[in-house]
Amino acid sequence: MNEKQIIGEKAVDFVEDNMVVGLGTGSTVFYTIRKLGQLVKQGLHITGIPTSIQTEELATKFGIPISKFEDVEQIDIAIDGADEVSSELDLLKGGGGALLREKIVAREAKTFIVVADSSKLVQKLGSFLLPVEVIPFGVGVTKKNIYRLGGNVNLRESKGKPFKTDNGNYILDCSFSDILSPKVLERELNMIPGVVENGLFVEMADTVITVDQENNVVIKKLI
Ligand code: A5P
Repeated sequence: MNEKQIIGEKAVDFVEDNMVVGLGTGSTVFYTIRKLGQLVKQGLHITGIPTSIQTEELATKFGIPISKFEDVEQIDIAIDGADEVSSELDLLKGGGGALLREKIVAREAKTFIVVADSSKLVQKLGSFLLPVEVIPFGVGVTKKNIYRLGGNVNLRESKGKPFKTDNGNYILDCSFSDILSPKVLERELNMIPGVVENGLFVEMADTVITVDQENNVVIKKLI
């Protein structure tokens, strides 16, 4: 079993009957969703809130009942991957472009579980490009304003065209190498007009599931 499968499947241990479960996006949480589908077939009752169209399709394929966010009263638990996890358990996310819905769901969840293989663990966030979701209108100006904060900024493209998120927005991939204060940068970015959200998830993860060098599962908790 690869690392992603080990930790992705481990995350289902945190899911209980009748929970509303925020379903993240990406190749690690794929294993969580597939496993949850198996458990649903065996009688587990859950309601999934997908964080992307891709995850909605996956959850449907695996037989997980899904609901609209506005139709549930609360989210009991959210499970999602990450592109980087710092020693303080702050996250950099959005490599797949789903950061906005992921952040809304994770913020609302009573418990937020992150599944991150060992390659994602870093001392300081910022080696991975930080995705920032922006509205297409005025993207040039928004780009300039992010650049002024100290990051190189590139419009994400797909097949020669700007990549569009599920929300119809663009993604700017920004290089801030070694982010000293994720909390400050998260706020500064979000104060720029045109920025919808950025991929810094600060003080949000309750638990991170990863593996050590011997492929043993390691559970890290926020102290
Ligand atoms: C999606 O936009 C991201 O936030 C993913 O959660 C993140 O990229 C982790 O993806 P993998 O599990 O595929 O590495």
